[in-house]
Amino acid sequence: MSNFIWGVVQSAFQFEMGDPLRRNIDARSDWWHWVRDPFNIKNDLVSGDLPEEGINNYELYEIDHRLAKDLGLNAYQLTIEWSRIFPCPTWGVEVKVERDSYGLIKRVKVPKEALEELDGLANRREVLHYLAVLKNLKKLGFTTFVTLNHQTLPVWVHDPLWTRSDFEGSKARGWVDERNIIEFVKFSAYSAWKFGELVDFWATFDEPMVTVELGYLAPYVGWPPGILNPKAAKKVIINQMVAHARAYDAIKEHTKAPVGIILNIIPAYPLNPHDARDVKAAENYDYFHNRLFLEALNRGRVDLELDWNPVKIHHLERNDWVGNNYYTREVVKWTEPRFEELPMVTFVGVEGYGYSGNPNGVSPDNNPTSDFGWEVYPKGLYDSTAEGAEYGRPVYITENGVADSKDILRPRYIIEHVEEVKRLLENGIDVRGYFHWALTDNYEWAMGFKIRFGLYEVDMITKERIPRRNSVETYRKVVREGVE
Ligand code: BGC
Repeated sequence: MSNFIWGVVQSAFQFEMGDPLRRNIDARSDWWHWVRDPFNIKNDLVSGDLPEEGINNYELYEIDHRLAKDLGLNAYQLTIEWSRIFPCPTWGVEVKVERDSYGLIKRVKVPKEALEELDGLANRREVLHYLAVLKNLKKLGFTTFVTLNHQTLPVWVHDPLWTRSDFEGSKARGWVDERNIIEFVKFSAYSAWKFGELVDFWATFDEPMVTVELGYLAPYVGWPPGILNPKAAKKVIINQMVAHARAYDAIKEHTKAPVGIILNIIPAYPLNPHDARDVKAAENYDYFHNRLFLEALNRGRVDLELDWNPVKIHHLERNDWVGNNYYTREVVKWTEPRFEELPMVTFVGVEGYGYSGNPNGVSPDNNPTSDFGWEVYPKGLYDSTAEGAEYGRPVYITENGVADSKDILRPRYIIEHVEEVKRLLENGIDVRGYFHWALTDNYEWAMGFKIRFGLYEVDMITKERIPRRNSVETYRKVVREGVE
């Protein structure tokens, strides 16, 4: 009997809201405020679509779990939303903090009394909701994967509009401010204490480098807080690393379950492999986007100053598994360093390839592109997963999928990417699971509902789940046939 994990994955903000009676709204996250900001809407930074018009998984979770079960899946991945559990600040709850010689937080002790106090602050209804969701998954026999941070933050931790308009004055600057590490550790400890018996795998973060790259280095893409501030980007990198490691320790106080981190490992290829500068650009991309986190958390090699001189910090070497979210590749070419604080940012994505393609076309290499313009490049799944596995931890492909509302590319996309999983296994690479993004359509961040990733289409009026038949049958079949 094979142990291979087959699943689907959802995040809280992108799937939960959408009850036609407007119940179960979470108005306490940064993204909630971000997507309805008039300036953002007027300037096309966001779509104007609102998450409360969405999928309504909050109420319809039993239906979604059943659909996943009927696909033959054995695992389900979801987020517990921090802002739902703690809609108001937890600052007053006392914990003990110790620092190392660099001034980094090396220990956060969350005692029993603190957990009880947190229990008093937690939104009881939301706690009961996630307990019910997880119990239902266990009842159906799923292995459960829970992520604690999938981009969204409580607005008391991160107020993106305040931070954008007054960076120095803002009192809620998300991962820029170290004190939020401590609050995240409280949330992580509380979650492990409260939900631990129902969770088989924990992940601290989903795609921490996306937060950095889109939030602090590309203000035109519609990602909060939407500022250009390389110095802040640098802090956000290090603070998320520390937050991961301290959350890891906090979770381990309550459970033996493996704790990992989900990265979007993106393989970067030089535009001209015979041009030394393009080759260097690809290396730098890999170092910045992929290796900083992999090296720090798996080997304790931390490039604190971002100057290619990592130091050994044992207390950051904390990781049991690596999640890889793979959609497409990057093809890069050299550009002179763009930011003094980030000397390795010497690359730009070449138009037409990877994430920089045109919707529903073909790339210069003749690969099809999705509704999102992303190039279909299955071999990149092999390369990125193999890279993740270099660190001696098992890798789970925690997201893979394609924006394809008409379901033209998706069936083949699934087959070709699962072929790469087989090739990884044949070559002895320790990959243990594959999750499809996503079971149903979702709220695609700044793009809203235009972009459709679901195996099941969702009618946004009736909330009906309508199979994209070819893909549903294809995924069912590959799961039944297995990879081993
Ligand atoms: C993110 C998801 C997102 C998906 C498609 C992933 O990198 O984790 O939240 O919806 O990409 O863009």
